[in-house]
Amino acid sequence: MRTQIVAGNWKMNNDKDATKSLVKDIKKNIKSLDLVNTRVIIAPTFVNLPLAVKKAKKSKIEVAAQNMHQAESGAYTGEVSAKMLQSVGVKTVILGHSERRTYFNETDQILAEKVTAALKNELEVIFCFGELLNDRKSNTHFEVVENQLKNGLFHLPAEEFSNIILAYEPVWAIGTGETATPEQAQEMHAFIRSLLVKQYNNKVADNMSILYGGSVKPANAKEIFSKPDVDGGLIGGASLQADDFTAIIKS
Ligand code: 13P
Repeated sequence: MRTQIVAGNWKMNNDKDATKSLVKDIKKNIKSLDLVNTRVIIAPTFVNLPLAVKKAKKSKIEVAAQNMHQAESGAYTGEVSAKMLQSVGVKTVILGHSERRTYFNETDQILAEKVTAALKNELEVIFCFGELLNDRKSNTHFEVVENQLKNGLFHLPAEEFSNIILAYEPVWAIGTGETATPEQAQEMHAFIRSLLVKQYNNKVADNMSILYGGSVKPANAKEIFSKPDVDGGLIGGASLQADDFTAIIKS
């Protein structure tokens, strides 16, 4: 059975105190849950990663970063490397989020380099991708997603895919309150899995956790997660409230 994952992308929210209390509350909420085959990941901002790692100790909560630079080290003012993340106990990094692609001009080429650098440094990658509203309206969404995967990920050999988690996030559903219908999510996730069969093999495709992201809330999580090719979610806004996040984990 594929691993189910609920990951909270906190984006640029929560200072030190808020990080402390949110980790504490999630920890308390999930303590009694039977989380077999289910992972819970949170991604606070860089400066609070060491604190989150410390506070999440002895719990099911894992801590991820929201981004990293592709170079090992050097003159890249303001950037953070894979090794630095490793050194503070972070094991997972989100790459390719649409906000990074849009506001920080991260191209497929840059993302491919970031993925390679992360895996080289033994970081697991949550790789995000998804089409714009216009792509869906013009019925090119499958092509757009296929290209994002091809250009950002398919340079990897099959054996490295065990360290990848995919997160399909249609850009039109992020922070808009508009969710893809469970059928739309399932349709795209099944398509993504078929691409993995074509590019790699059945085993890679079967084992891959494919998360859905975009306005997932306690009210819609269960239905979306019930689809056979949806293996959990990448949650933005609703991951900032311990009770909402917990309700989504329970789904
Ligand atoms: P929302 O859940 O706020 O729509 O954000 C989704 C997201 O971008 C997670 O990475």
